[in-house]
Formats: sequence, C-alpha cells, structure tokens
Amino acid sequence: MSTRAVIAVVDDEELFRTWLSEHLGAAGYTVVEAATGSEALRLVAEESPGLMLLDLRLPDADGLEMVTQLHEIDRDLVVVIVTAYGEVQTAVRAVKAGAYHFLEKPIDLDDLLITIEKGLETQSLRREIAVLREQHRWQFANVEFVGRSLAVRQLAEKLEKVARTESATVLLQGESGTGKDLVARAIHAHSSRKDKPFLEINCTTLPEQLVEAELFGHERGAFTDARERKKGLAELADGGTLLLDEIGDMPLGAQAKLLRFLEDSRFKRLGGTTDIPVNVRVIAATNQNLDRAIGEGKFRSDLYYRLKVVDLFIPPLRERSEDCAPLALYFIERLARDLKREAPTITPEALGVLEAYSWPGNIRELRNVLERALILEDTQEIRPEHLPIEIRGFARPVDGGDDIVQLPADGFRMEDVERSAIEQALTRTEGNVAGAARLLGLSRDTLRYRMKKYELANSHWRSR
Ligand SMILES: Nc1ncnc2c1ncn2[C@@H]1O[C@H](COP(=O)(O)OP(=O)(O)OP(=O)(O)O)[C@@H](O)[C@H]1O
Ligand SMILES: [Mg+2]
Repeated sequence: MSTRAVIAVVDDEELFRTWLSEHLGAAGYTVVEAATGSEALRLVAEESPGLMLLDLRLPDADGLEMVTQLHEIDRDLVVVIVTAYGEVQTAVRAVKAGAYHFLEKPIDLDDLLITIEKGLETQSLRREIAVLREQHRWQFANVEFVGRSLAVRQLAEKLEKVARTESATVLLQGESGTGKDLVARAIHAHSSRKDKPFLEINCTTLPEQLVEAELFGHERGAFTDARERKKGLAELADGGTLLLDEIGDMPLGAQAKLLRFLEDSRFKRLGGTTDIPVNVRVIAATNQNLDRAIGEGKFRSDLYYRLKVVDLFIPPLRERSEDCAPLALYFIERLARDLKREAPTITPEALGVLEAYSWPGNIRELRNVLERALILEDTQEIRPEHLPIEIRGFARPVDGGDDIVQLPADGFRMEDVERSAIEQALTRTEGNVAGAARLLGLSRDTLRYRMKKYELANSHWRSR
C-alpha cells in the first residue's frame, strides 16, 4: 500500500532533488518536487502527498515555521527533515514542532527508505486508530456498547429489536466477562421500561434455600427466620426488568416456580395464598452450557424453551479479536477520565499483543489489564512492555530453532536491535570502530554514521 504513496521532495538543490526522485521512483513511489517553501505549501494543498522530505534551509521560508504551516493544511502529513551536516539542533527543534523524523546529509539510501516506510506506516495506523476511536460504538440510552466484529454488530441490531418488544423473555449466553450484564442493562435502558427498576439476582452466590425467597418474597412465619413479610425481587421489579444471573445454578424447586411465573405473570409469596400479578421482563443469563445441564437433570428443559424466546449468544473475545482495539481505546479513554489524567495513546504493537492473547476472562480481563497499565505505568504511550508478561508471552515460540535473534510475540523495533548489536560490538572491541564494523559486517563509515544516529559516539568508547 505504502509503495503507491506520493512523496514530496522539497529542496532548492536541483541535483539533490533529481537524485532523490530517481531512487524513490525506483522504489515504487510517486514523487512530486518543489524548490521553495511556497511551492511546497501549494503541493500539499493540491497533490496531497503522504510524506514530505523537507530541507530546512529554503530561500523563502523558515523551515520550522514551514512544519507548522504544512500541518495546518494537512494534519496527517508526515514530514521528514533533511538537514545539512551539523544542523542537528535545528532538526531536533523541527521534530518538536511536529516533524516525524530527521535525516542528515549525506543521506544513506537504506535509512531513507526505512524512515519513509515507517513514517507512512505510522500515518496509516494513526488514521486507523482515529477511525476506531470514533466508530464502533452503540449507545443504548446510557449504556455504551463497543465492538466492530460482525458478531457484535449483529448483537447490537438484535438488541435494538428485543428492547422494542415489551415483555419477551431473553436468554443471554456467553462466557464470563463477555458482557451479559451489560447487554441486559442495555435492553432495559433502551426499552419502554427504562424508568422502572432493573433488578438482578445471582443464583450462584445465594444459598439454595434463599433463591425462592429472594425471588418471590415471603409472608411472616413462612420459615424459621421469616419474622416479617418481605417482598421479593419479582414484585419489586414490577414494570421493569429482572435479570436472573447464572440461571444454570438455579435450584430445581425455584425453576418450577419460575416457569409458572413466566407462564402466568403471577406468583405467590412463600407461605402466602394470594396470587400477585406483576408486569416484569425476565432476562436470564448463563455462562454454562444449558444443554449439558439438561442432560444431567440439573435444568428443566421446559424452562429452557420458555426462556429462550429470544436467544442471544455473546462470543468470547478470542473469537472476535478485531474488537480488542476499539474496546482498548474505549477503556483507556474512560479509565483515564476516572483517574483524572490525560488518556495515553497505545502503540500498534501493544494493540497487536492484545489481539494475539486468548483472554480467558474476556472483556473484564481486558479492562483490568488496561486499568493496571494506567495506574502503574506513568506513560503517555502504552507499549507492549507496559502489559503483563503473561499476556505478552502468549504464543511465544518455545523452540528457538536456528534463528540468531528471537522475535518475541509482540515483536520489537528493528532500531532497538540494531542499536543493541552496535553497543555489544563496541563493548567487545573496547571502542575500536574498525573491529566493531568487522563484527557487524559494515563499513567503518556506515558504522560511524549509525553510532551518530544512536548517539553512541560517546567518550566511553572513544577513549581508546
Ligand atoms: N461490548 C462492550 N462494550 C463495552 N464494555 C463492555 C462490553 N462488553 C463487556 N463490557 C464491560 O466488560 C465488563 C464485564 O462485562 P459483564 O459484567 O457484562 O460480563 P458478564 O458476561 O456479565 O460476566 P459474568 O459472567 O462474570 O457475570 C463490564 O465492565 C462491562 O461493562
Ligand atoms: Mg454478569
């Protein structure tokens, strides 16, 4: 994709422009040229190049101001400064003003092509992240639902339809942390019941004998501890929505009563004789396989069919990894707001790590990982090293084989590897550039150039 990008070469030296144009053309880029600042501004407006190689010393313009002006025309333009030898200070100021990078003359063609490639890649990822940030959100009243996978889009559509029905019972199935609670709340918030209560009962955490009492209430004296009459959730939720969480763990006795309640919309309190009519939408949620529970005699099949009038399945995050990026951006923004700090960005590499992980705890786990990163890492940019090791280590190859360098699951920056190799070579040769160059298979000039690039030409190595 990047090979078709348009590159603007801005330099008042015609020979240099021609030289660059030829090489960039050979590398598959379309090149446009300008000799002055005003021409450069016109080029950006008319040709919309993706990247500009900009000489800081132009006859009619101040290079630093140029960077700002260029970005006023095109915020996404990648500006690479080309400076004469010894002008590094100015180039650094240009980078602070928003230029992407700088290269010193004489230009090393390999470095140039790598810089262009990376600059364009960063640009396209930045655009992609901007798109992700704005889209892939569904708002159901006060409930925000994030994702761009087909599964999530279909779910959002169904959810809207379900919310519009007044009383249809819903069965939500999905692993722990996939968003069943959220979906239940969204259905309620988007329905005509939204101003009435949304109540929830968790069948796993309640002792068996209390589930019925919690659901349907009891009269005074119904059982030993029943000192007074108590209304159950079914009664309290009248007009609203009742979420029965972990329905797979509901005791069989309560299941029978629930079925009757779903058929008649009325029930008796425990120990009571009068029928109490209520108007409640029931949403049941489970992370168990109810078919299996039925087979094992733990769940009534007639209740199962009654519950799944509308059946919503939320797939685990590992089966829709394209949702990781929009969810991550969403959580970073929200968590930062809660922590009253500026939202850090997240690098494409870190997003790659999130997408590669299997997320047994699903979206809840993703949120926790990001929350940890925001609390513990005081960084403006979340990179792979800010994520827990068990997440980064996922899919790391066990057998190194014959590879000299092991590429970790989350990748690495080629620049870091190059820098580290040069440092090691210089340490081994105690700063002897010729020796280090031999170890690295480089010419002495090339090594010197790279040492300067990585600011490795320090006195420590030069002392010999
Ligand atoms: N699509 C989504 N968009 C935004 N946030 C989500 C989404 N799905 C889940 N979440 C968030 O992830 C967390 C876990 O979701 P939720 O509690 O709804 O999961 P659950 O399926 O009910 O889990 P459990 O089975 O453990 O009860 C919540 O903070 C929820 O707000
Ligand atoms: Mg839940």
